[in-house]
Amino acid sequence: MEAAERQKNRELPIGVFDSGVGGLTVAREIMRQTPNEKIVYFGDTARVPYGSKSRETVTRYSRQIIRFLRTIPVKAIVVACNTASAYALDEIEKEIDIPIVGVIRPGAQMAVEGTRNGRIGVIGTEGTVGSGIYTTYIRQLRPDVEVLSKACPLFVPLVEEGLWQDPVTDEIATRYLSELIDVGIDTLIMGCTHYPLIRSTIARIMGEHVTLINPAYETARELKGMLLAQGLDNPTPARLGEAQYRFFVSDGAQRFKQFANSIIKYGILSAKVVNIEEY
Ligand code: DGL
Repeated sequence: MEAAERQKNRELPIGVFDSGVGGLTVAREIMRQTPNEKIVYFGDTARVPYGSKSRETVTRYSRQIIRFLRTIPVKAIVVACNTASAYALDEIEKEIDIPIVGVIRPGAQMAVEGTRNGRIGVIGTEGTVGSGIYTTYIRQLRPDVEVLSKACPLFVPLVEEGLWQDPVTDEIATRYLSELIDVGIDTLIMGCTHYPLIRSTIARIMGEHVTLINPAYETARELKGMLLAQGLDNPTPARLGEAQYRFFVSDGAQRFKQFANSIIKYGILSAKVVNIEEY
């Protein structure tokens, strides 16, 4: 590749996608850790939630979104959704010729490094927990670790309703998490992009002896390392007036914008609607 072309390639954005707004917690971490990078975010707000859909459907949706992102074009993809990472990443990885990073492997890695007593809890959507993928990755890294999982399907709508600190969320979280309290875990993976937004509730219920893992942090770190290793990191800060972060959704741009502005403090100027079924 010519030097000029390589430089141009380095300045391309990273494509980040999720079933909706949850992946913004991952985008936020990428913004923090790699401040030169441009991001194109796609939230599949018309078809959320993915957590209760089948592997086939989530894989089809993920392929469509990647096809859309590649029209931008992007230099790498981050699957900022646990359910899509659980169901689609292994297959899609084999199909594309640009780097792609999911959130599950980094989360598993972080938990294995953090546990002292070898007992790790995982909470996520029905899809993620049902796939057993966190357990698989954790056991690949450390076969003697015990993994206890619990699907928490009501957490996503509670977060989407903005009930981040609310007695209703406390009540539901207490019911879901009680199973994980008495079994002696010392590490809990928040295996769904929405959960970091109710971190304080989860932390209070689990108690201070349980370390909460937010896979977003490790995902951004893995992305950074991968960009550097492949010479794909952007050495140039965004130019004045340049749109460093762009947002696309499949429906409800206004609602997305409001929600997104409460997660990301960089100011989301606009979100455009894309007819994702066309891709
Ligand atoms: N983003 C999804 C995840 O991390 C949660 C929302 C959904 O069910 O689509 O699994």
